[in-house]
Amino acid sequence: MLTAQKSAADIQTPANQQLVTTLAIDIGGSGIKVILLDSEGTPIGERARLKTPSPATPDAVMDTISKLIAGQPSFDRVSVGFPGVVRNGITYTAVNLDKAWVGYPLAERLTQQLNCPVKVANDADIQGFGAISGKGVELVITLGTGFGSALFVDGHLVPNLEMAHHRFRKNESYEEQLGRATLEKIGKEKWNRRLQKALNSLEHLFNYDRLYIGGGEAKNITLKLPSNTTIVPNVLGLLGGIGLWGE
Ligand code: BGC
Repeated sequence: MLTAQKSAADIQTPANQQLVTTLAIDIGGSGIKVILLDSEGTPIGERARLKTPSPATPDAVMDTISKLIAGQPSFDRVSVGFPGVVRNGITYTAVNLDKAWVGYPLAERLTQQLNCPVKVANDADIQGFGAISGKGVELVITLGTGFGSALFVDGHLVPNLEMAHHRFRKNESYEEQLGRATLEKIGKEKWNRRLQKALNSLEHLFNYDRLYIGGGEAKNITLKLPSNTTIVPNVLGLLGGIGLWGE
């Protein structure tokens, strides 16, 4: 399936829609994951993961992606979740990777490397595509190495919501107060108390209908959450990749 150059238009025609497979890639601060999805977004086969290289320069990450792909069956198109601001396939920030990502044409480079259409979006946006109901105001936050955020209105993404580095309390950002490094430093109990404060603040700021909490560290939540708030599995950071090809 990867033999000929294909355009997004070629592969989205209804006649061959059923056969279209998407390789979903999730570039994270600590791990890079891939899984193959069928046209409905259902996984075909197992998720594969390798550690994020250090330093996580574009070349090193592209190399890790090549290694992960070598173990996968063929695919028609690729969705990538990236831990920073992404616009038109270009990465603009990557606080937890490397400075060399600023201005890196990730979609273009991967298209050349893999010879198929590639779409790149912020990792929290992709989690959101996997989690939301598509009705009303829905906020998504992800708790992992970084602090991800995504906002949807009736299923439409509000682009580039970046709460991570915005001041939260005590002159520190959401990510400084609630990122993995801090969790490891301050312990679960204190981290949960801070998270409660963050949730109170976000509820009043966004007045959302629903809140979804994803990311690898969501498993440490011990708070009693209100009925409009759901913890979602981290694998949605891959499964949501199908959402990039929806419209
Ligand atoms: C980045 C976000 C990202 C989040 C989770 C933050 O440091 O600024 O864009 O979504 O980490 O990876």
